[in-house]
Amino acid sequence: MQDNESVINNINKLKNEKNAVILAHNYQRDEIQDIADFVGDSLGLSQEAVNQDADVIVFCGVDFMAESAAILSPEKTVLMPEIDAGCPMAAMVTPRSLREKREEYPDAEVVCYVNTSAAVKAECDICCTSANAVNVVNSLDANTIIFVPDKNLANYVNSQTEKTIIPWEGYCPTHHQILAGDVLLMKEQHPSADFLAHPECRIDVLEIADEILSTTGMVNYVKQSDSDEFIIGTENGILHRLEKENPDKKFYHASQYAICPNMKMITLDSVQKSLEKMEYEIRVPEETRAKAKRALDRMLEVKRSE
Ligand code: 13P
Ligand code: SF4
Repeated sequence: MQDNESVINNINKLKNEKNAVILAHNYQRDEIQDIADFVGDSLGLSQEAVNQDADVIVFCGVDFMAESAAILSPEKTVLMPEIDAGCPMAAMVTPRSLREKREEYPDAEVVCYVNTSAAVKAECDICCTSANAVNVVNSLDANTIIFVPDKNLANYVNSQTEKTIIPWEGYCPTHHQILAGDVLLMKEQHPSADFLAHPECRIDVLEIADEILSTTGMVNYVKQSDSDEFIIGTENGILHRLEKENPDKKFYHASQYAICPNMKMITLDSVQKSLEKMEYEIRVPEETRAKAKRALDRMLEVKRSE
């Protein structure tokens, strides 16, 4: 059995040989964040994949994120170290169920959160992230918007726009582990802490948040904030990055149960194996890729709200 240091040395050697970069989502295991060339949110990482002068992208995240990188950078080899690392919320909408919903609302436009498969993106009019969802919805001509798949993000957008939002019944099982009661208890224990919530949290959790932010929004907010303490309402992996970048500030998770098992599948060993065997390559069929890219490109034209 290899120790961590020799695995990391081998990963770095393989990266050089193959002209590869490692991109890791903010929720990845601490040791994966530490070996990554970039750590970021789902969209930021896909854009980073485009900007990188690399032949190979090792994407440490879940399937829809690696697919987004493959959609935006078809000339690069995009690898996912664990092929089963999917997003249960993204799996809650299929192209067929979305087409059926469109038939019910023929005048509506469809906005899909980046947490969707490439096949679903190909069926929508425009994509959004948690950072730009309100701006994306407001940029559209239609007054009725079918919003997939996250009902919590949809409800949040609904509270910020004049348009009629038809929410999908999807949700993130990890963010649903964060309960308002847990947050109130944490607030009692840390009365001067700011509570930052991801918009995938339940509505009653969002109602007691000081700020509602995407993961990158949280990273940026904490950096410029005068507060020294924060209760973090999202997947707990982000605390590693927050603590590393802000050693003088204190962070508490809103719930010890906010852990996404899919995000934790990737290990140092699986990254090493991925580079050794050049597996598992993520490819999106060209017709789907071109349609999904149109929805992503349309979103990128709308300025990020944070
Ligand atoms: P971000 O886009 O904020 O990184 O979130 C992705 C995600 O999976 C949230 O659960
Ligand atoms: Fe999907 Fe939730 Fe995990 Fe994000 S945290 S990848 S939305 S299951």
